[in-house]
Amino acid sequence: MRVLVAGGAGFIGSNFVRHAVQAHPDWQIVVADLLTYAGNLENLHDLLGGQRVRFVKADIADRKAMEALLAAGFDYALNFAAATHVDRSIRDPEAFIRTDIYGAFTLLEAVRRHPVERFVQVSTDEVYGSLREGSAREDAPLMPTSPYSASKAGADRLAFSYFATYGVPVVITRPSNTFGPYQHPEKLIPLFITNALEERPLPVYGDGQNVRDWLYVMDHCEALDFILRRGEPGVVYNIGGGSECTNLEVTAAILDYLGRPRSLIRHVRDRPAHDRRYSVDGSRLRSLGWQPRTEFRQALHETIDWYVARRSWWEKIKSGEFSDYYREQYGSEAGS
Ligand code: NAD
Ligand code: DAU
Repeated sequence: MRVLVAGGAGFIGSNFVRHAVQAHPDWQIVVADLLTYAGNLENLHDLLGGQRVRFVKADIADRKAMEALLAAGFDYALNFAAATHVDRSIRDPEAFIRTDIYGAFTLLEAVRRHPVERFVQVSTDEVYGSLREGSAREDAPLMPTSPYSASKAGADRLAFSYFATYGVPVVITRPSNTFGPYQHPEKLIPLFITNALEERPLPVYGDGQNVRDWLYVMDHCEALDFILRRGEPGVVYNIGGGSECTNLEVTAAILDYLGRPRSLIRHVRDRPAHDRRYSVDGSRLRSLGWQPRTEFRQALHETIDWYVARRSWWEKIKSGEFSDYYREQYGSEAGS
């Protein structure tokens, strides 16, 4: 099987490649990634250089590059490539429109001309917007509120249109908040773990009562693998972690495990249009036979252990472009 993983040098994509190499000895994988600030070849350090995984530096919004790439022929293609951080989409939406919408279009066009058996568009649970109660089924209305989630919703529906109009065998996933090894420290869990390790403040937006449904990246990768084999073209699949927590609960769990004081918590200015709660109904995938296996606390502790052991990985990231971003995003409130 020849498998294309667009965005495979990022957090979930690199974990997926690692999972796939172990689970599928017959897969030949091509990772295509632009290596933006979020992409990192160190995420694939143990996988490149052998026969199984090849890396191509490429922009999914570059039509010629995508055409040439897909012309080589693939059985499966998965699109993880995106600009992914909500706060950055609020500061500067352009990359989100370009990559998340136009890039998805460009990939879909290339796949239309060079057919694959499955094309997985990794969307997000953020497309449903904030839910006061209950959980969103896949047929719930889409109410995205940030330039990030609106761009993802555009790509999500565009991917569906390529199934409906051209018969491209597209499957769309809407996963919840994912965490685990190799996640960029701009995101809540790695930011708070690494700040706590550096004895810096933990900047909680607003009152910290926003709820996210946490999904361990290993479970997320298994779900994608399952959907590749069992998912039906034209169908959307929610992937939930079944672990809804407030941000303050997550923050307290990190501090407690590391033995750091609650006094590191700083309540800072809220994110504009900050969605209060996400929750997906995972019954469609459950009825096919998949559900998350990992218990949240256990996975959080394993993740914290990973960041403790891989200090050089995240210190390099935090000392580069990220230090300017952090200063602009958080100002002096969070110990910039
Ligand atoms: P990430 O930011 O860690 O990785 C994104 C990758 O895409 C990076 O390697 C980056 O270099 C690459 N990329 C960006 N623009 C590109 C372009 N124009 N061409 C080629 N490559 C480009 O993101 P992630 O957290 O691994 O998310 C992967 C996917 O999953 C995204 O589509 C995201 O929207 C979705 N998702 C993420 C989560 C989460 O909690 N992390 C949850 C639900 C859905
Ligand atoms: O729900 C899926 C989405 O999860 C993905 O589609 C996105 O790509 C991914 O970035 C993530 O989006 P969130 O905005 O939920 O994740 P983030 O880690 O940025 O924030 C999680 C929660 O923590 C959210 O309520 C905002 C809050 N937060 C975040 C940061 C970075 C803080 O309170 N302080 C912070 O410094």
